[in-house]
Amino acid sequence: MESFSSFRSPLPLLTFILLSSTGTDALNLEGPLMKDLMKGYNKNIRPAQRAGNATEVKLKLTLTNLISLNEREEALTTSVWVEMQWCDYRLRYDHLPLYENVTCLRIPSKSIWLPDIILENNMDGKFEITLYTNALVSPNGCVYWLPPAIYRSACSIKVNYFPFDWQNCSMVFRSQTYSANEIDLILTEEEGQLIEWIVIDPEAFTENGEWAIKHRPAKKLINDRYSRDELEHQEVVFFLIIQRKPLFYVINIIVPCVLISSLGLLVYYLPAKAGGQKCTMSIAILLAQTVFVILIAKKVPETSQAVPLIGKYLMFVMSVTMIVVMNCVIVLNVSLRTPNTHLMTDKVRKIFLNILPRMLHMHMRPWTPAKHDGDASPCRRRRSSLGLITKADEYNSLEGDTVQDVGASLARASVKVQQCVASCKHIAETIRQQNHFQNENEEWFLVARVIDRVCFIAMALLFTLGTIGIFLMGHFNQAPSQPFPGDPKTYLPK
Ligand SMILES: *[C@@H]1O[C@H](CO)[C@@H](O)[C@H](O)[C@H]1NC(C)=O
Ligand SMILES: *[C@@H]1O[C@H](CO)[C@@H](O)[C@H](O)[C@H]1NC(C)=O
Ligand SMILES: *[C@@H]1O[C@H](CO)[C@@H](O)[C@H](O)[C@H]1NC(C)=O
Repeated sequence: MESFSSFRSPLPLLTFILLSSTGTDALNLEGPLMKDLMKGYNKNIRPAQRAGNATEVKLKLTLTNLISLNEREEALTTSVWVEMQWCDYRLRYDHLPLYENVTCLRIPSKSIWLPDIILENNMDGKFEITLYTNALVSPNGCVYWLPPAIYRSACSIKVNYFPFDWQNCSMVFRSQTYSANEIDLILTEEEGQLIEWIVIDPEAFTENGEWAIKHRPAKKLINDRYSRDELEHQEVVFFLIIQRKPLFYVINIIVPCVLISSLGLLVYYLPAKAGGQKCTMSIAILLAQTVFVILIAKKVPETSQAVPLIGKYLMFVMSVTMIVVMNCVIVLNVSLRTPNTHLMTDKVRKIFLNILPRMLHMHMRPWTPAKHDGDASPCRRRRSSLGLITKADEYNSLEGDTVQDVGASLARASVKVQQCVASCKHIAETIRQQNHFQNENEEWFLVARVIDRVCFIAMALLFTLGTIGIFLMGHFNQAPSQPFPGDPKTYLPK
């Protein structure tokens, strides 16, 4: 070969390089070799020398991208390289001395026999690979074929713990026409180790934002229910056990939902006098929660087999808000009662104005049944009329002794003064009654306040416990540590 590019040649350096680069491989034997191999080659015939020989097809899957998992359509989209290896005795050329220096031959894959291995559980009718790349043929006739594919495989979604769920998806590969007698489908072996996993090359792999891959075992499955002649007898299954990263849903749905629902508890801090507004506020919150229900319904598959965790939580907070609305109505009813319409018994007073406020440490003067002479005790008067009443009382008490004497003497002196005293008594009596009325009215308000407080504590407890409980349930729903329950093997490279 060196004779072609002589050092004594006057040609410039460039010519020398050009010549030498073609010169090292002066005769490209790939063309003649291809011609030789294809002579009489029928790509429709399976490469089996004898009738009983099954062609061994080795399979390996390299995942480059887990594109998405569509929950509603229950479809997993992945971008993979499907590595297939088999030996075709008709493509052997190591026994031909002419081609001893050809280490590898690239042949368009459409011109040789291909094992028709397809994705069995595809979703869109695309069984095959995306691009028919060239196949590499080694001198011993073994073919290495690495076509890329974008597969949409069916993956049944378990919604129970959405959005804290993990899913078990699989990709089933099977020969479309050859049974186990003709093709032996196996996993690739490299350096004496069976590749029982989906290969992920960290440099080529793009991490999915929503899903973390927990396990990726691969298995050759033999279905004994079918005989060796049936296509279903053997299959190679690649599993992807993936766990959702829930942060997106935590930020966009759960946190807003918890915040809005906790606002519902604030309704109890509105005074009973703002009755109508309490109802308005809690119903507005109920409406806001409905928006979240719609959001969730758009995301999960339309299944009635299970209720997602977030759906359960929404049902729960909506029930809490419903109870708050009912509560508001009851409190409104109680707080607007008057002595004319309702009679407040001492039992109610004892429970709501004495026992409960003391138990709940409310800043309220407790009601005491003592000094019960038809009126409320003076210490309960808190109105501006207090001074007036006290004065009238003074007049009344005066009446008993000195004023009566004075009155008697005055009566004798003047009828008009007597009338005046009677009028004063009347005014005092009327004011006393009015005060009594207002007192009892206020007592109803206080009862409403106590009911509010009791319900607030109950609802706050229920809400907090429910929220924590449901999210703890989600937190502990982790993918199992083994890809197959009860099988300690990890199906990962050592
Ligand atoms: C093919 O079959 C023959 C006899 O049936 C056997 O000797 C041979 O080992 C088989 N070859 C392969 C590759 O299985
Ligand atoms: C193969 O290469 C070797 C060394 O480069 C050479 O000696 C031999 O002649 C080559 N064989 C053929 C058939 O070209
Ligand atoms: C995933 O599903 C396969 C069968 O479809 C099952 O054998 C395997 O145990 C499942 N893996 C887990 C972790 O549940």
